[in-house]
Amino acid sequence: MHESTLNAPNQPMPPEFFIANRERLARLLPPNSLAVLNANDIPPTNADGSSAAVPNSDLFYLTGVAQEQSILLLYPEADDEKQRALLFLREGTPENERWEGHKLTREEAQARTGLRHIHWLAEFPRLFHRLICESEHVFLNSNEHKRAVIEVESRDARFVAETIRRYPLHNYRRLAPLLHQLRAVKSDLEVGLIRRACDVTASAFARVLRFVQPGVGEWEVEAEFAHEFIRHRCRFAYLPIIASGPNACVLHYVENSAPCQKGSLLLLDVAASSVNYNADMTRTIPVSGRFTRRQKQVYNAVLRVLRQSIAGLRPGKKIKDWQKEAEQQTEKELVELGLLTMRQIKRQDPNNPALKKYFMHGVGHPLGLDVHDVGLTTQPIQAGWVMTVEPAIYLPEEGFAVRLENDVHVTADGPVDLMADIPLEADEIESLMATRK
Ligand code: GLY
Ligand code: MN
Ligand code: MN
Repeated sequence: MHESTLNAPNQPMPPEFFIANRERLARLLPPNSLAVLNANDIPPTNADGSSAAVPNSDLFYLTGVAQEQSILLLYPEADDEKQRALLFLREGTPENERWEGHKLTREEAQARTGLRHIHWLAEFPRLFHRLICESEHVFLNSNEHKRAVIEVESRDARFVAETIRRYPLHNYRRLAPLLHQLRAVKSDLEVGLIRRACDVTASAFARVLRFVQPGVGEWEVEAEFAHEFIRHRCRFAYLPIIASGPNACVLHYVENSAPCQKGSLLLLDVAASSVNYNADMTRTIPVSGRFTRRQKQVYNAVLRVLRQSIAGLRPGKKIKDWQKEAEQQTEKELVELGLLTMRQIKRQDPNNPALKKYFMHGVGHPLGLDVHDVGLTTQPIQAGWVMTVEPAIYLPEEGFAVRLENDVHVTADGPVDLMADIPLEADEIESLMATRK
């Protein structure tokens, strides 16, 4: 058992973390480079509404700043020392602070970021013009997550288009691959924050094991998680999936609107986020407190794949080989469960393997400031990565699914399961549920 970080104060991160990240980025830039990063927009909804602002993960990683409209400008070799790292902020005024609350002062921004030179946004055009004219390479940021569906132009994308329009002869470069490389390898501080998100998730799951029984609504289970997360100053890392019975076969089920039926399984893909660092957990539990024989068979099959896939997270292995191992093992389990035959497997189309009917997604992904974090998914696994491990078997014909998901820190000495303390064995789940009132 590790010492729980559940009640650790939710402290702001030390400026040394952001200073070190900026130094690591500076080392990756070629001589005479300028790099620019923008905050995210606040997403509009309808009428005068907006969704909650989500910090730009790259800007946060380099500054700790989540305030809207902020711009970071890095020019490590600028002639003038005052122009090597500049942060531009929206200035607080009596008017905007009355409606929106406090904006960072220069002193607060210095303390949080470790940057010495903080400017208001009005100064950006003049300083940017001067620096872009002096620089040779201009690194601009973009969302290059391979699975991103980009339908709305981000603030960074608008900035890229406008900058290229105004300065068409510059040599533009992509910042994203450099940030992916840096963010893939987590520092001890980051692993500690992910661990805290896991601990808060663990405490909410313990509460849910005491709460679930036939007749409770999926939405009520969501409320139990919300209570525990918010009281620990965390938020949901992603829209929670609380899926009973056949709903669990819908991979992104987020309606959470059905009552939990006696005898069914309840799939919970729910986790906390602490200081912007995320956990990502899935558990599958019996609504009535005991698995049926068939449910337990399938559960234990997925659990074996989970354990082997965690053990298989070794530096040097490629993600696609790790995925292949999980698929081969799932295939064997599906044969044991009577869902596939060896004949079907031998005659299968390699481009559409038979197991895809029951397990059709990746066995894991990088985790960090984003839930599906940026990373280097075509390169060999490295020590320092944090990966989810999430095998599953979906059985719509039988009206249930089992998915189990833990978060793992890859180290040179072997995988460290950050969710090792969260109940997982079927018997353990049953005995914890037996203590319900
Ligand atoms: N909760 C999202 C995922 O497991 O990837
Ligand atoms: Mn998940
Ligand atoms: Mn996941």
